[in-house]
Amino acid sequence: ARLVVLVSGAGSNLAALLAAQQDPAYPARVVAVVSDRPDAGGLDVARAAGVATVVVRPADFADRAAWDAALARAVGALDPAWVVSAGFMRILGAPFLAQHGGRVLNTHPALLPSFPGAHAVRDALEHGVAVTGCTLHLIDEGVDTGPILAQRAVDVLPDDDESSLHERIKVAERAMLVETVAQVVRRGVAVDGRRARIGR
Ligand code: GRF
Repeated sequence: ARLVVLVSGAGSNLAALLAAQQDPAYPARVVAVVSDRPDAGGLDVARAAGVATVVVRPADFADRAAWDAALARAVGALDPAWVVSAGFMRILGAPFLAQHGGRVLNTHPALLPSFPGAHAVRDALEHGVAVTGCTLHLIDEGVDTGPILAQRAVDVLPDDDESSLHERIKVAERAMLVETVAQVVRRGVAVDGRRARIGR
């Protein structure tokens, strides 16, 4: 199955997918990496693996809707079976979801619906939770609100700061992503209201 991965950051989740697909039995292949930022580390990860890269920068468009439509077209041209948002720090809008909705996965560094948004790790730490984690979900029109496909719990340790906690979450997140993407690709997803099930 063809995957397009959206990244804004370092791309360690992307790197985990690329490592997994070294195994010929892994059922998905990253055919291209798309970013909103020309300086995203994930683009270097892609290039080092010989994977095509595309940059669609908001600054090159008149408004958000025009950028979103251009992103949707760029991703559509790559003909993905599934789109994986892995550390992509922008909200995908109506034009994007009209074209790709139902086939877009997002990985988030908290146990949703707790701590949505861009500062999930900091927010969980500041709240004082003892357990946080990561979530893989289908993207819908809200911010981190779509049907949940997988979650992993991670303990908060007494001396954690945002960075140590995020690094530990990312270890769980990469494993969750690699395993769940394989299941989703093999078995599909059935959504019933808020509840999503892998396998039809
Ligand atoms: C991940 O924890 C993702 O959930 C969050 O930012 C991090 C991205 O890491 N939104 P990377 O770019 O995959 O290394």
